[in-house]
Amino acid sequence: MTDDTKSGLRKGLTNYGDKEFSLFLRRVFIKAMGYSDDALDRPIIGIIDTYSDFNPCHGNVPELVEAVKRGVMLAGGMPMAFPTISIHESFAHPTSMFLRNLMALDTEEMIRAQPMDAVVVIGGCDKTIPAQLMGAASANIPAIVVPTGPMLVGHYQGEVLGACTDCRRLWGQFRAGDRTEGEMDEISGRLAPTKGTCMVMGTASTIACMVEALGMSLPGSATIPATHADRIRVAEASGAAAIMLAREGLTPKTIMTKAAIRNALVVLQAIGGSTNGLVHLTAIAGRLGIEIDLEEFDRMGLDVPVLIDLKPSGQHYMEHFHWAGGMPRLFKELGELIDTSHPTVSGGSLADSAALADMVKGQDVIRSRANPIHQGGGLAVLRGNLAPRGALIKRSAASSALLQHEGRAVVFDSLEDMANRIDSDDLDVAADDVLVLRNAGPVGAPGMPEAGYIPIPRKLARAGVKDMVRMSDARMSGTAFGSIVLHITPEAAVGGPLALVRNGDRIRLDTAARRVDLLVSDEELARRKAEWVAPAEPAGSERGYLRLFLDQVTQADQGCDFAFCIPKAG
Ligand code: FES
Repeated sequence: MTDDTKSGLRKGLTNYGDKEFSLFLRRVFIKAMGYSDDALDRPIIGIIDTYSDFNPCHGNVPELVEAVKRGVMLAGGMPMAFPTISIHESFAHPTSMFLRNLMALDTEEMIRAQPMDAVVVIGGCDKTIPAQLMGAASANIPAIVVPTGPMLVGHYQGEVLGACTDCRRLWGQFRAGDRTEGEMDEISGRLAPTKGTCMVMGTASTIACMVEALGMSLPGSATIPATHADRIRVAEASGAAAIMLAREGLTPKTIMTKAAIRNALVVLQAIGGSTNGLVHLTAIAGRLGIEIDLEEFDRMGLDVPVLIDLKPSGQHYMEHFHWAGGMPRLFKELGELIDTSHPTVSGGSLADSAALADMVKGQDVIRSRANPIHQGGGLAVLRGNLAPRGALIKRSAASSALLQHEGRAVVFDSLEDMANRIDSDDLDVAADDVLVLRNAGPVGAPGMPEAGYIPIPRKLARAGVKDMVRMSDARMSGTAFGSIVLHITPEAAVGGPLALVRNGDRIRLDTAARRVDLLVSDEELARRKAEWVAPAEPAGSERGYLRLFLDQVTQADQGCDFAFCIPKAG
């Protein structure tokens, strides 16, 4: 036996004080699975299996695991699948973001603890791939991502439906009294008709596109429908690519460089992607010691038009994006706006990917730069006395008339306060007011839930009001539409200026000048600050993961990662 501890089964031996015995014992136990010595001496490729009965977005994971295994074996390796936690948006209390960092820790430590020469991570639902990339970046062994892929569109009464932009739109109609309970029951079976991730340009699709731009997945990986045979084939190819990555020693640090992160930011703007994309990329980049410059991202927005016509900013769905040419076609249209020379897990570059683009004639989903959906990018970064460390607005999903707006603040102190009062006929609110929700940030809620899509108060919805300016320290689902300022940083629960807003204050949103300001004097704000008392911590916060979360979670401008997971500068 050799004491080479760098590869295969010999990697990361369990400590018994005798390396030879550790390796012997490892072989003893793994042979119980029926593996031959030949199999065990091959390069080992870990495959992260995130199947869960609670996670329909990962419903095709078993097939993908099998396909990755086949690809690994065809390339001469030994596949070893193992589980980590799995998070679905609608089955995570209090919110999936609360659990993202737990999944990142799980992913990092299980990659590090078990012997593997490369790892294939299979994820999809919103927080899962960010968590997996955070973990893989920190573990820094060769890694490749296989997204589960978007679900197919739904149909109802001749209308094409998509989760979850239409979930929110139709729920809004129900709240306004325009839909019956019977209709909603029927619709609930139509909105998410197959396994896979939400098929609009929500967070899952945004992340899958950014991952392909980062070079961490094979061409086509972002957009192939979850249920299409090509999804199986790209999983098989990813298994084979993992062997190449192991052989070449191409780690996430060598792929996810500053230039790759910049490419992902350009793509985030060009696809009219989810605001969550910025928080997650900040966390992933932070694991690699790369800081995202919010001002540069905002300037990028002036040069990078929105080219993808997908809901919620546009009309189409992910399967249409795929058949129009997918990300390779987008790379081609972006041209010199991205660095196409950058290496990817395919062994080639984004230029190679762009060269493969299917130049579909007559398609109108992927626009040219001469004919964009929106001239400026999708996301704008705001500053001002209400958001000293930044806030975000998704311009492409907002009402243009509300991008410049001044109004009276109507404040909700918490999610519970909002739930209790928003639909009250006694609520003093008008269509030109500014709805403010606070204590819904990383610490406040906790977990920065997707509550920024504050519902239009029922009495205004019934009067036909479709959009209002809304502001919070929360996040918003990438599938939502509206004139909504998010991620106000620092959040109210840690004493940010949002904590000082009072009912009736004037707030000005000036998107053109990138400002969001509370029109109250500095003296008055200082007086309010002196009186401010931090909100009580939630029940159960004295122990366990919640305690760790409250002590360690950073603000949105640091990606809401745990402070102890971000490497020290230098
Ligand atoms: Fe999983 Fe939308 S709920 S991607």
